[in-house]
Amino acid sequence: MSEPLLEIDAFIRANTRIAAPPLVPEVRMHLADDAVALWEMTEATLEKIGLPPPFWAFAWAGGQALARYVLEHPEIVRGKRVWDVGAGGGLLAIAASLAGASEAHAFDIDPFATHAARLNAALSGAAVQAWTRDVVGAPSDADVILVGDLCYERDTAARLIAWLQVANAAETLLGDPGRTYLPKSGLARLAEYDVPTIRTIEDADLKRTGIWRL
Ligand SMILES: C[S@@+](CC[C@H](N)C(=O)[O-])C[C@H]1O[C@@H](n2cnc3c(N)ncnc32)[C@H](O)[C@@H]1O
Repeated sequence: MSEPLLEIDAFIRANTRIAAPPLVPEVRMHLADDAVALWEMTEATLEKIGLPPPFWAFAWAGGQALARYVLEHPEIVRGKRVWDVGAGGGLLAIAASLAGASEAHAFDIDPFATHAARLNAALSGAAVQAWTRDVVGAPSDADVILVGDLCYERDTAARLIAWLQVANAAETLLGDPGRTYLPKSGLARLAEYDVPTIRTIEDADLKRTGIWRL
């Protein structure tokens, strides 16, 4: 019965190394790096074996910057119910838990991300509940919604922003390095970080990344 779950965890462990995202050294995650062939597997190959691209295996610039911001401003999440939407490996939910959130939920549409978030939370001693669910458009009881690097695809970004505007969270923050579909209006920039990234997934070693309040 539990074999598929164990297989996903085993896949994650076999294809990643445990490391800290450069801007968030207090968190440890299962991450792919330049030396690991995971991302180099072509999308076609991954599709053939039934896997979406492994977004969960990287700490994206938007997630790293917003995690740093949350850890530097724990009052934003302390005692609050926090949702990390498009969580990947769960970095924002982990940061929220470490900063004192009463609940930290990680949501992603990829079941591998859900497993990675659970494994990663355990590595950092964070209390995270991870869900495989598309919550964009669903009713929300979150006090705080955190979104790291989810504006890279037109339809997803449009649905996300429309939903965030009605989701009724007291605080909604996005971390984003200026992806193509980040809205040009309706966001206030609170801070900026230079985020170390890797050439496997980005075109630069450092990404200037904004923290945006909706
Ligand atoms: C670029 S990754 C960012 C991961 C993480 N937030 C970070 O910054 O490291 C985007 C993630 O969003 C997830 N995603 C895309 N559309 C989604 C949706 N509608 N609901 C939830 N997750 C979604 C993808 O599966 C992927 O894991």
